[in-house]
Amino acid sequence: MANISFAPSSAEPQSTTVIYFAAEGAMASKSLQTLDARMGGALTRAIEVADFKGKRKSTLELLAPHGLRAARLLLAGVGDAKTLTRRDWAEIGGAIRSKLPKKTQDADVIFTGLDGVTEESPVAFALGFNLRSYEFKKYKTKASSKPDSEDPQAESELGPIRLTIYSDWGELAQRFQKEEAVASGVYLARDLVNEPANILTPPEFSNRLRELEAVGLTVEVLDEQALKSLGMNALLAVGQGSSQPSYVVVLRWNGSPGGAPKDETNLVFIGKGVCFDTGGISIKPAQGMEEMKGDMAGAAAVAGVMKALALRKAPVRAIGLVGLVENMPSGTAFRPGDVLVSASGQTIEVLNTDAEGRLLLADLLWYAQTFLHPKCLITLATLTGAILVALGKENAGLFANDDELASRIIEAGAETGEPAWRLPLSQKYDKMINSKVADMKNIGGRDAGSITAAQFLQRFVRPGTPWAHLDIAGTAMASPATDVNQSWASGYGVRLLDRLSEKFYER
Ligand code: BES
Ligand code: ZN
Ligand code: ZN
Repeated sequence: MANISFAPSSAEPQSTTVIYFAAEGAMASKSLQTLDARMGGALTRAIEVADFKGKRKSTLELLAPHGLRAARLLLAGVGDAKTLTRRDWAEIGGAIRSKLPKKTQDADVIFTGLDGVTEESPVAFALGFNLRSYEFKKYKTKASSKPDSEDPQAESELGPIRLTIYSDWGELAQRFQKEEAVASGVYLARDLVNEPANILTPPEFSNRLRELEAVGLTVEVLDEQALKSLGMNALLAVGQGSSQPSYVVVLRWNGSPGGAPKDETNLVFIGKGVCFDTGGISIKPAQGMEEMKGDMAGAAAVAGVMKALALRKAPVRAIGLVGLVENMPSGTAFRPGDVLVSASGQTIEVLNTDAEGRLLLADLLWYAQTFLHPKCLITLATLTGAILVALGKENAGLFANDDELASRIIEAGAETGEPAWRLPLSQKYDKMINSKVADMKNIGGRDAGSITAAQFLQRFVRPGTPWAHLDIAGTAMASPATDVNQSWASGYGVRLLDRLSEKFYER
């Protein structure tokens, strides 16, 4: 993460790189005019020569700019500055991070003289800058020690950078602390999802969650024995073929001291943590199976948002609940045809051991409603390949039994750039998982695969409990490069849930 600080616009920039913004059609803004005067008109000339118009995300770079202390001047187009949202500013921050040479050690960002900028803009910019600074390079042994190495294998890393943001507000540090907490949560989620499954086993995952006690979360780890006595047989069945033990971890945040809301109900986030999904006895094809190291992205997002809430001392009661298992084929694995008695007492006929996520979520939903006093329940899971067919990587699939909760999630997702698109639930779809031998079967059929998976979950939600489900198989892993993320894991869900909490559930 970059070392970011804030300064009043009256202070003098000190860094080797200085960044100014230019709005489209407003090249004659006061701060640019002042700059141009200091540069003896060199800025105007450069703008003309390059035909720079200030279009969003276009940049103009001047090296050794005349009259300035800085070695590099970056003019960054923002388009129509008046229409820019927090999300836009975060994307601009990310885009600018990528425009700086990797070895850049310090930079100044000048945020004055732009119409439509609020005190949220520099802070959102800083968040985007930090999100883009993320890299997963821990297994690259030939990395950056020799940045100019001829070795094509050697990839340079982003170096540490000091960023100073000059604005009319000067003291934005407190506001920024909150965004830094969110970035920390996103980093954690990405690290967990990027980590290979030989390292991030269920025990290792639970160890990393225990470490969150350091930020003020209460962490409770339930082992197989505890799960057995609770009757969480559906979850245990998924893990029984693995040589790794299964765990359920409960992460609690009771609001900052003195800031906890009076009512005792909790936001409850439930995450699928299948550390590796081979498919089990219904084994997956070899092609692309390595991606199933990311099948714990729901649990990672839950860990990430809980860390963010704790770091920013959010005045809210929230609980993260994750099931950590490995789905393997072996002599002890569960089989197609098995009938499981879930913790809720409902029975499940297993017709495909690769539809495992819903099995562990079923028991977690029971646990949450039995012990955690939910105000609402939100499940996050890389649940179905079918959601990629329906929505691609642009939107997570959203299902809900409650219109208000659904619209809040859609709003939080749109604002943070982690969008979700609602899909239907209904009795007709529910019927598709009726079984001849048990209360239900764990697959529907070829049609509407993401919906029947959600219907399965809904059978474990008691009427009257607001519940929403995000199918993040398309959005959390194998992610396309964006302004705010270049890594395989996006960290999807952390920012959405953090905003949901901040906007709708905090004092
Ligand atoms: N983990 C997968 C879903 C998945 C697919 C996640 C692609 C990320 C990318 C899940 O456990 C699974 O295998 N689902 C099956 C369900 C089917 C057997 C009904 C699927 O989507 O094929
Ligand atoms: Zn599966
Ligand atoms: Zn899975």
